[in-house]
Amino acid sequence: MKGKKVIVTGGLGFIGSHLVEALVEKNDVIVIDNRSTGKLENIDHLGDARPDVIEGEVAALNLPEIFDGYDYVFHLAALPSVQRSIDDPLMSNQSNATGTLKVLIAAKESGVQKVVFASSSSVYGEPRSSRNGRTCVSHQNRLTR
Ligand SMILES: NC(=O)c1ccc[n+]([C@@H]2O[C@H](COP(=O)([O-])OP(=O)(O)OC[C@H]3O[C@@H](n4cnc5c(N)ncnc54)[C@H](O)[C@@H]3O)[C@@H](O)[C@H]2O)c1
Repeated sequence: MKGKKVIVTGGLGFIGSHLVEALVEKNDVIVIDNRSTGKLENIDHLGDARPDVIEGEVAALNLPEIFDGYDYVFHLAALPSVQRSIDDPLMSNQSNATGTLKVLIAAKESGVQKVVFASSSSVYGEPRSSRNGRTCVSHQNRLTR
C-alpha cells in the first residue's frame, strides 16, 4: 500500500504502533489516541516520520471532520480485557462499542473507502479447524452464558 491517506486509531498501542511503523514510509498517516494505555514513546523512534497524533476519545472527537479527505481508517482504539469490561462495563462500552459505531458512521459520512477493524478472540471464542484447513469462528461462548 502506498500513497494513501490513512488514519490509525489506537496508533500508540501495541498493534497500532507497529502498524504505523509499517505505513509511514509510503503513506500519509495520522494517529488518534487518548493515551489511556498507549504511549508516545511507542512511535518516537520514527523520528521525522512520526505522524501527528490527535489526542482524544474516539467517541468524543469530531470524526467526520478529521476523516474528511482520508482513504482508509484502521480502527484499533479499544480497551482490551474481558475483566475490565466486567469491572467497568460503561467505560468499555463507550470505548469499544460506541467508539466503533462512531468510527463507522463518520467513515460513511466523510467518504472513507475502507475501515479495517481488529476484533479479538475474546469475542470469537476458541476457533475450530474446518476440513479445508481454515478456521471457523465459534459462538460457543455466547451460547453458554
Ligand atoms: N494484542 C493482541 O494480541 C490482539 C489480538 C487480537 C485482537 N486485538 C485487538 O486489537 C486492538 C488493539 O489491541 P492492542 O493490543 O494494540 O491494545 P493496546 O491497549 O495496546 O492499544 C489500544 C490503543 O487504543 C487507545 N485507546 C483506547 N481507548 C481509546 C479511546 N476510547 N479513544 C482513543 N484511543 C483509545 C489506547 O491508548 C492504546 O494506545 C483491540 O481491539 C484488541 O482487542 C489485539
